[in-house]
Amino acid sequence: MQNNFSFIILGATGDLAQKKLFPALHGLIRMNRTGNDFCIIGTGRKDFSREEFAGLVKSNIPKLHEDSWKRLEERLYYHAVDFGRPENGFKSLQQYLSTTEKAHNAGENRLFYLATLPSHFKSIAYSLRKHGLTETKGWCRLVFEKPFGSDEKTARELNREIRKVFDEKQIYRIDHYLGKELVQSIGILRAGNRIFSPIWNSENIDHVQINLIEDFGIGNRGNFYDNQGALRDVGQNHLLQLLCLIAMEIPARFDEKCIRNEKVKVLRKVKLSARDAVLGQYEGYSSEPGVGSGSKTETFFALKATIGNKRWKGVPFYLRSGKNLGRKFASIYIQFKEPNYTVFHNQRLNPNYLVIQIQPDDGMLVQLNGKVPGEKLKVMPVKMTFCHECAFGPNTPQAYETLLFEALQGDQSAFVRSDEVELSWKTIDKVTKKRPVLHPYAKGSMGPKEADEMIAKDGREWFNRIENVVQGL
Ligand code: BG6
Repeated sequence: MQNNFSFIILGATGDLAQKKLFPALHGLIRMNRTGNDFCIIGTGRKDFSREEFAGLVKSNIPKLHEDSWKRLEERLYYHAVDFGRPENGFKSLQQYLSTTEKAHNAGENRLFYLATLPSHFKSIAYSLRKHGLTETKGWCRLVFEKPFGSDEKTARELNREIRKVFDEKQIYRIDHYLGKELVQSIGILRAGNRIFSPIWNSENIDHVQINLIEDFGIGNRGNFYDNQGALRDVGQNHLLQLLCLIAMEIPARFDEKCIRNEKVKVLRKVKLSARDAVLGQYEGYSSEPGVGSGSKTETFFALKATIGNKRWKGVPFYLRSGKNLGRKFASIYIQFKEPNYTVFHNQRLNPNYLVIQIQPDDGMLVQLNGKVPGEKLKVMPVKMTFCHECAFGPNTPQAYETLLFEALQGDQSAFVRSDEVELSWKTIDKVTKKRPVLHPYAKGSMGPKEADEMIAKDGREWFNRIENVVQGL
């Protein structure tokens, strides 16, 4: 349980704060993961009274729990700050915060969550320091939402600027995929199961696929998304982070230093090139609100990465993501090499695979070869499943609940370190800077046919299934 803190959200009226951060705080209160000595201050450009702001927050909390809401509301405040003109706002925020934290016995432990446009990150960090908000008797941490930079150069610059005023120990760069329960389970799956650890290498693994497939478009995010594209939006962060967790060596300890050191080692060895990339754009994208006509922004990518070390020699990692596709799922598919046929009189067998299904239906599944009843050497695929909800019940913490709690605890292991963020941009820049041809695809399809051809050339196919982890059917 975390007690004595102030949680200050910069950009508190925006979508992220309203849809993710406040519901997560409500969830933490509900799970009794906060004590009673804390306060939450929202800041934003708009003028809201405390009551109006509470009304807004309340209207965005799904499955509101009256008691928990009451505890939240009693500790919830609002203070207007114009991030474009920080002078006045931050000075008065300092006084406001000081009075509020005293009233709640919050102990001068401060977490500032920057949920603003990234263009404000630097000036906010400077203003917090300049106006004394970060000089506390307790701890002071800054959480940065993504995107952190837009390529290697800008990420480096931003790191350099932020580190002029804060230590890396105080900086928490969010990648919300690292807070998802199934993603947090990868380390335990690998290190805690002797049946997997010895076979986690090129001798036994044929290839890995990481898929983040979405069946919806860009909604009202046109202005933002059109400057980003899918590679920057989810490739540089979520997909490369998943690749790191699968490919890294088991860290000596599961702590922030060792985990992040191992991820960095992978990022140094990942090879991506524009030649092994297929980019796509869904039909009708350029008439979405906020999108420039004739836009060349990708809403889909399929990549083939390799990792230049002994463990992964010759094992491709295929990464794929897209908007407006025919399905919605996120999973990691690990296909093992084919078994020896000779003993089965050369009857071809399906290779084993393991799926880590991040969403929906969180769980894992292994496909094995089983014996057909009544037949001596006839084989058919059978599945072994682990359904997360069946084992642990429905109340698994959401990604932001987990990450906010870890940031409050001062645990940086699921946050991205400065060298990681720079290296992952460097990796993705290899494709984004080359601007490969953009292929159109129909909404509701599984992306451009060129992506299927890319993997088919290697004699493989995309894994498009959402597995039934409950029954393993
Ligand atoms: C965000 C991207 O980081 O991740 C979105 O900006 C994407 O475009 C989202 O839809 C996917 O996250 P989740 O948790 O919904 O799978």
